[in-house]
This record gives sequence, C-alpha cells and structure tokens, in this order.
Amino acid sequence: MSSSGIKSRDAFATTLGAFTATVGSAIGLGNIWKFPYLTGSNGGAAFVLAYLLCVALVGIPIMIAEHVIGRRTRQNAVQAYETVIPRQRGWSAIGWGGLVAAVLIMAFYTDVAGWVFAYVFKSLRAFVVGTTLGQGDFAALAGGTWEPLAWQLGVLALACFIIASGVSKGIERATKTLMPLLFVLLLICDVRALSLPGASAGVSYLFRPDLAKLTAPVLLAALGLAFFKLSLGMGTMTTYGSYLPEATRIFPNAARVAVADTVVSLLAGLAIFPAVFAFGGTPAGGPGLLFNTIPLVFAKMPAGGLFTTLFFILTAVATIGAMVSLIEVPVAWLTEKRRLSRPVAAIVTGAGMFALGALATLSQSPVLSGVKIFGKSFFDLFDFLSSNLLLPLGGLAIAVVAGWLLARTDFQAELDKGFAARPWHTKLMSAFVKFVAPVLILVILLDSLGILRLS
Ligand code: PHE
Repeated sequence: MSSSGIKSRDAFATTLGAFTATVGSAIGLGNIWKFPYLTGSNGGAAFVLAYLLCVALVGIPIMIAEHVIGRRTRQNAVQAYETVIPRQRGWSAIGWGGLVAAVLIMAFYTDVAGWVFAYVFKSLRAFVVGTTLGQGDFAALAGGTWEPLAWQLGVLALACFIIASGVSKGIERATKTLMPLLFVLLLICDVRALSLPGASAGVSYLFRPDLAKLTAPVLLAALGLAFFKLSLGMGTMTTYGSYLPEATRIFPNAARVAVADTVVSLLAGLAIFPAVFAFGGTPAGGPGLLFNTIPLVFAKMPAGGLFTTLFFILTAVATIGAMVSLIEVPVAWLTEKRRLSRPVAAIVTGAGMFALGALATLSQSPVLSGVKIFGKSFFDLFDFLSSNLLLPLGGLAIAVVAGWLLARTDFQAELDKGFAARPWHTKLMSAFVKFVAPVLILVILLDSLGILRLS
C-alpha cells in the first residue's frame, strides 16, 4: 500500500517495486523480437539512431506526463483522463483509445509470445535429439493453423490468470526475480555472437548510420517503436503511475526505465546482427528473425541447445510482464468502473483479445493469408494501427493535457515530489512535455502522411 493512504486500490509497495514493475512492462517482445526485426527491415543504424532520439526527446517526456496524470488522479486510464482536467471529460478518449490499442497490440503480441513459448519446448526437444532448429521449423510453426492458435490461447490464459491474482503480488514478484537473469543471458549471447568470424559487419550495421535511409516511413516506425517499447500513449503508464508511491521521483524513475529498456534492446541487437552477418543471413528477415537466428548463435557451443532453451524461457518471462501490463488497462477499467471482479474482468478481456488474436495468427496460415486490408495482413495491420497510429496520437493528446491544460504548478509539483528542493529537471521536463515531444510527434505523423516533407 502506498504512503498516500489510498485504501481501496492496490499499489506498488515501494519505489523499487514500482521501478521493476515499470521495467517489467517496458521490457518484452518489443526489445527482443521487435527492435531487431524493425532495425533489420528499416536498414539498420539510421533507424537505431532515430529510435534513440525518439526515446530521449519524446519517450521520456511522455512517460513523465503519464506518471504525473496517473499519480494525481489515482484512477484507471479512462477515468484518469476523464477527471484530470475539470469540466473537460472528453479527454477520456485517450483512455478509450488506449483500451482499443491494448486489445490490438495483444492480438499480435500473443501470437508472437505463443511462438516464444513453443520455442522453449522445440529447442529443448532439438537439444535432446541432437539437432538445431532451422528456418523450416519457424515457417512451419508460424504458418500453421491449430498449433500457433493453441500456443496463443495458452499464453493468454496464463497472463489472465496472473492478472486475476492482483497487482503488487502478481506483477512485482515475477519481474523482480527474473529480469536480471534475462540480462545475464543476453550478455552471454552477445559474447558468443560477437566472437563469431565476420561479426563486425553486424556491429557496423547496428551502429554506423547512413542518414540517407531516414525516410518518412523509417521515422514513423522509429517513433512507433519508442511508444511501443516504453508502453506509452495508451494508458499503461498512466495506470502504473496511479500505483506509484508518493515518494517516487518521477523523472529519475522514468529515465532509468528508458535507459534499462534501451540497453536491453541494444543487447538483443548485438546478439542477433553479428550472427546474421556471420551466417550469411539477411537482416530484413521479418518477424521470424529472432527465431531463425538465436538457435544458430548457440548451435556450435557446448550445450548450445540448453542455452537456446534458457533464452526462450527468459524471453517468455519478459513477455509475461509486458502482457500483464497490457491486460491491466482494460481490467483496471472493468473492475473500477464496471464493478466486475478481477477474475471476471480478466476472462472478459482475454476472450476479446483471443477473438482478434486468432485473426492475426491465422493471417499467416493458408486460412487467412490471402486476406489483405490496405495491403496489410491482419497481423501487420494490428501492429501498424496500434504502434504507428494510436500510440503516437495518444501521446500527442497526453502531451496536450499534461503540458497545456493541467496547471503548470500542479504538473511541476508532481515532479518535485521526493526532493527536498526543486530539482534541475522539473522546468526542463515541463518544456519537453509542452513543446518538444508534441511538436516532434506531429512533425513525424504529418511527414508520414505526406503533408509535410522532411526528406
Ligand atoms: N513495452 C512492451 C514490450 O516492449 C509492449 C507494451 C506495449 C506493453 C504497450 C504495454 C503497453 O514488449
């Protein structure tokens, strides 16, 4: 229970707990699967650079804005935005957009998480029989019908079960213990990948930008990824803000989360691209990149198959933290506004997510692979609509609320909490939330619509 004495709501017990839970939401498939996959399909280092700038200039300020609004209102995302500005209930649209985004994200996220869980077992079996998983194995899994559906359903059921058991107990405990392990295993992967002959080409691919590659779609993808990875623009971080202890210092907490999240992404990139180049693969390998590369990284190592299995186990754990935070958005609303019990709310939410999720999964099997909407499969469409559209738009609206409508003194008072005197960053961050972040989001969105030409 937080020091503010809220009795009716669950809350993070300590600042450390709040930090690890926030990191637990941020770190997930976004780092391990999506960051390498998008970096590979958007041309490498230029994308990484754009992504890092988006995190620093947009991501951190929006995370701060969400935490301020969450902690001030201490409500679920929909009600937080409904009440944060008196007599302007319409901002609850941010919360509604967030509910939609959460369901859209979960639709493809659970598909990928299902692959991860499947790979835990597949890599263990490969180890036992003495083979290595190859491209054909991934294609067979992702392109199948019942198998990926069953994994998706299993993963969703597990996440809903965790959610039903409560905030601090469920989320904090799992993330605190297992995240450091993932970190160590990524380091082992990196050492292994970097020592492969030809690995340096992968390092340059990741860190030597060719600025000519910074086109409008690349910038939009980088912005979308920054939102997606830091769980921003849809109320997750607002909800988590509502659980923050009064003593937690909002800016240092957000900055640490962003740094930790970025480090994990770069570590994942350093495990994958050197290996891709060393084995003569293609960086633009699409969503299968992670699954096709990691088994190769470990293939020739002693007990490599066991490391592969461990890698997918820890990735599975990371996906749970993120999924739990996604499901928490609708569940917090259903329990507080609609007065459903947590288990019922979790079941209702999970059922809705599975309905859409099945479309995303089947869009890669012969069943629905022929169906394209705006030229995209359901899987790609859900991803594009949520990451590249709803989250940045949500972020823009959040910046308007926190930067322009909320009284500046109120905004700054939240940033000052936990400090004896006003820290250096309070004024800087209010300027970022008010000007820098919204202007950048707007420019990138307009650029990608062709209304404004940057490049
Ligand atoms: N940040 C999570 C990840 O990187 C995904 C996520 C997005 C979680 C939005 C919550 C909200 O995997």
